[in-house]
Amino acid sequence: MKNGNWPEDQLKKPGLQMRSVWAMGTPKTVEKKFGKHPTQKPEDLLKRIVLASTNKGDLILDPFTGSSTTGIAAYLLGRHFIGVDTEPKYLDVSIKRFEELDRNLKNKFAQKV
Ligand SMILES: C[S@@+](CC[C@H](N)C(=O)[O-])C[C@H]1O[C@@H](n2cnc3c(N)ncnc32)[C@H](O)[C@@H]1O
Repeated sequence: MKNGNWPEDQLKKPGLQMRSVWAMGTPKTVEKKFGKHPTQKPEDLLKRIVLASTNKGDLILDPFTGSSTTGIAAYLLGRHFIGVDTEPKYLDVSIKRFEELDRNLKNKFAQKV
């Protein structure tokens, strides 16, 4: 992780570990496009956690998934994901985020072909 390229982290110095998770800031507006969760984390932070703690193809379970930022990071990094939440409104936000991600990835693929 310390050798990775993390342009969004303004405190990180090349070749050194990250200095503070708070340097990642708050979730970007686009990440809250379908509604927000009160404790929503930035996608960049979850990507780093997923990369540091799992391998491609692993299955990640978040039994308190909220708006599923962990799941979005998992999907983007080639991991499988199961999210659970008791609140339908957060699951609706999660589903919309996944649907949009899927559309964007399909469009990107279609442009390459
Ligand atoms: C602190 S949020 C975590 C959100 C997300 N994992 C994150 O890191 O951004 C906790 C979530 O757990 C959900 N929750 C609370 N009790 C639960 C239960 N018994 N089973 C499943 N989800 C639950 C809440 O609705 C809430 O969305």
